Amino acid sequence: MTGPDNAKLVGFKDLLLTKCGLGFENEREAALIRGLRQRMSNRRIEDFDDYHGLLTGDIDEFNRLVELLTINETYFFREPDHLKLLVERLIPDILEERKSDRIRIVSAGCSTGEEPYSISMLLHERYGTDFGRLFSITGVDIDTSAIDRAKHGVYGKNSFRAVDTDRLGLYFEPFGRNEYRLKEEIRQVVTFEVINLLGTVYPASMQMPDVILYRNVSIYFPGHVQHAIFSRLACLLTEGGYLLVGAAETIHHDLGILSLVEKDGLFFYRKLPNLFIENRRNRSSAAGVSGLPAAGAGQPATPTARGQQRAVRHGHASLAHARERRSSPDAHALFDDALGLAQDNRPDAALELLDTLIRRDDSFVKAYLLKGTILLNSSRFDEARENCNKALAKNPLCLEASLMLGIIARHEENDDEALRRFREAIYLDSACWPAHFYTAEIAYARGDMKRACSAYESALRILEGDPSGDRGQTFFPLAFKTDQFVAICRHKLALIRVQGK
Ligand SMILES: C[S@@+](CC[C@H](N)C(=O)[O-])C[C@H]1O[C@@H](n2cnc3c(N)ncnc32)[C@H](O)[C@@H]1O
Repeated sequence: MTGPDNAKLVGFKDLLLTKCGLGFENEREAALIRGLRQRMSNRRIEDFDDYHGLLTGDIDEFNRLVELLTINETYFFREPDHLKLLVERLIPDILEERKSDRIRIVSAGCSTGEEPYSISMLLHERYGTDFGRLFSITGVDIDTSAIDRAKHGVYGKNSFRAVDTDRLGLYFEPFGRNEYRLKEEIRQVVTFEVINLLGTVYPASMQMPDVILYRNVSIYFPGHVQHAIFSRLACLLTEGGYLLVGAAETIHHDLGILSLVEKDGLFFYRKLPNLFIENRRNRSSAAGVSGLPAAGAGQPATPTARGQQRAVRHGHASLAHARERRSSPDAHALFDDALGLAQDNRPDAALELLDTLIRRDDSFVKAYLLKGTILLNSSRFDEARENCNKALAKNPLCLEASLMLGIIARHEENDDEALRRFREAIYLDSACWPAHFYTAEIAYARGDMKRACSAYESALRILEGDPSGDRGQTFFPLAFKTDQFVAICRHKLALIRVQGK
């Protein structure tokens, strides 16, 4: 059989790229042609157009072709430093913070299962036979035959290149002539599913994991697919959760979607509050000011009441600004310098300067807010809360302080307190989309889909409806990467709709 002409080849390439992200340019083109020939010969099809037609209508045939084209290279304890970091540093931290619930780990693109099973062995070594109660691991891959082999748990010598004889004897039993079967004890905490990471909706088994391993999968994807899948995995991750990519992939995913964190010389991603500090030095904003009488929080406000509330808030804003305007030029200069340092990612120097500012002028509310933001970004929650409370003590109507206190409470899994703070913020300013967004996230996690849906819709309406580009953000010095939030709202609304069907 001769190969397909260029136009036909482009048709196959497009199909594979849009459906599962696999690219077949340059040296990978020959693999595509080989795969097409093999499947067409199996199906006794000679015409490339006929086979293309079959692929678009027959999902089983599409999967058979994909099985031939994926690169399943993997082995036990691959890139062991990251696995060690996960089991010895990150998991103990999660266990420390979270007393309840099982820790959920997803291996995205797990191939024949060596990666999730390696984690299972390491967890067994650290936590003993109790580990089944503490952890659940899900391995997913697009390749049906790889997942079948993973479920079977039988491996040949290629998989054992980094396994020492002790572990081999401890966890495997001989199977047939040259293979070994992983013991049931290690397999029992791992489940597998066939999932296309570029598919429409991820299943329940992948939702809200504490850790996602997504290693040596994205190297085969073009940039826009890498971005799309990384964003979707980031959405899934629970607040504070970790995402580990392969060492060679780290740099490509530093897209501002998750925070890049370093520990023991190794890099990984974490879903942190993700507030960034924007240059708003020369802007007049209502920030630093807001709040509401506690009794009003949570009551449905009529538009008129809201209007009045906003007027009160903005009245207080002017007062606070007036107060800040009266601060010495020296204080303003110090604040601008601290802001610059924070933007340059020099948090310690910024905090030092803010302390100097506050010693000179303790009425400068924005200094507490900037301190709070920097501390929150460093996960120093107690100190961040202390600064928010100081801002509220100076100005009980401080929207940013309420919002930040809500985010801190959310991070500490005190969801009732978080909801109370977000209600406060929305009452003060119904355009406070981060408060709608986080309310939606909590409702979603609690399974209250009706409330989640309406709160995501409110956040999206505000984010999309502000043509100024400011998208309702008046929160100084807090700022959010809004594109990411738009993507999350849309993704979650799509999930809720699919689940509701
Ligand atoms: C090289 S293996 C990586 C295995 C393991 N994560 C490791 O690091 O050893 C890459 C895996 O990604 C899977 N893969 C590629 N595209 C995928 C997609 N769209 N959805 C799910 N899995 C995919 C392939 O089937 C393959 O098994």
